[in-house]
Amino acid sequence: MSLVSGTLQGMPAFSMYTGIARTDPEAGGVAAADYDGDGKIDVVEYGAGKVALLKNAGTSLEEAPLPYSGGARAAVWGDWNGDKKPDLLLATPTGPVLLTNVGDGTFRDDTKLLPKEPYYALTSAAFIDQDGDGKLDILLANTPAGIVATDDRCPHMSAPLSIGELDGCVVACPLHEGRFDLSTGETIQMPTTGGLDADGNYHPTWSPGGRDAKVDPPGRKAEARRLTRVRRLRYYPVRIADGRIQVALPRF
Ligand code: FES
Repeated sequence: MSLVSGTLQGMPAFSMYTGIARTDPEAGGVAAADYDGDGKIDVVEYGAGKVALLKNAGTSLEEAPLPYSGGARAAVWGDWNGDKKPDLLLATPTGPVLLTNVGDGTFRDDTKLLPKEPYYALTSAAFIDQDGDGKLDILLANTPAGIVATDDRCPHMSAPLSIGELDGCVVACPLHEGRFDLSTGETIQMPTTGGLDADGNYHPTWSPGGRDAKVDPPGRKAEARRLTRVRRLRYYPVRIADGRIQVALPRF
């Protein structure tokens, strides 16, 4: 990774300004903030192998220590404790890392203040004022696809997916063992009741745990099952503006 400077003399162009720390095996991105309050924008760069804090010294960028070693998939600045100093929130494959800006140019690892979850595959993190109380809250996205908004209804028979289980991008419905990929909308596992998939192809009933599939009893109930079609998930446009998540919902 390198920093380049632009010029407006003649043709617009960029030239190499300085080499900066490597974040191998890949570069993920950068986040800028004046963390030390000297009026100059500093930069944190992150990748799979490293997070580097680069202090803007005017004519050079000097790497400053952080109480964290390892990579990150996202890094954001925000003043979570209201002391007017930007703190750093990292999304890492093993969970969030919260580094509080102490104010003397150093950071304190306050990750222990964040709630614990049994499973993490964080890909993004954001500071948002979710309840409008003027204090920054934290949003963590546990799916590789980041933030998505979809109906809280199973595309099979409308059970609430919010009480199902999320594993990466795949949500398991609390009824009928259906599993759906939130990143693609595809059905990963048909419900035990079988029926038609989103393309109209028939799938027989099945039983979990290697047991024999139940045989459909004759009659209208079985016919209804056979003809019940699993939809694709429906998504709604999402954007983050002014620290709030906005979702465009259709008018009914
Ligand atoms: S309602 Fe979700 S799998 Fe049947």
